[in-house]
Amino acid sequence: MSRLKIGLIVLLVILVAIQFVQPARNQSVQASTGGIASVISVPENVQAILQNSCYDCHSNNTRYPWYAGLQPGAWWLASHIDEGKAQLNFDEFGNYSKRRQLSKLKAIQGSIEDESMPLPSYTFIHKAANLSKTDQKLLKDWIEISRDEISK
Ligand code: HEC
Repeated sequence: MSRLKIGLIVLLVILVAIQFVQPARNQSVQASTGGIASVISVPENVQAILQNSCYDCHSNNTRYPWYAGLQPGAWWLASHIDEGKAQLNFDEFGNYSKRRQLSKLKAIQGSIEDESMPLPSYTFIHKAANLSKTDQKLLKDWIEISRDEISK
């Protein structure tokens, strides 16, 4: 057998083998008590945007896409969820200190302004998660009101 053939077979075996190593899924069955709506009023249209564009990586519940069943897509997504949740979790937001809540709102505003979120590698596949200009404006207005609401 040629080296190329052996190499391809080894690669195939590895690809098949890693399919059996699936990361744990980010799907909580418990209703969260520390959700953001427990401390700030979140209008329905704002909630819909957050859910659609941010919750896959910043909440305790991810809607798993087709590629999450395939490696290495599953690891890629899992690492984004771990990292994203560690920095900002809308389902834990109510448990943050006031100071942290304010700084997170500010960070969200920043991420909207510089269009760094949702991650481009994610919107590349999830086109519908892109924030439209209207979404951006809605979120920014909501953050303004929420910052006052928390600071009171
Ligand atoms: C595909 C996963 C993914 C999606 C979807 C996503 N994020 Fe993130 N987010 C991350 C990751 C990973 C980090 C941490 C690394 C970084 O900053 O790039 C992060 C970091 C952040 C931070 C920084 C927090 C801090 O304290 O500095 C903010 C704010 C944020 N995201 C807001 C959002 C908002 C708002 C949305 C929706 C419009 C969103 N993200 C959608 C993965 C995601």
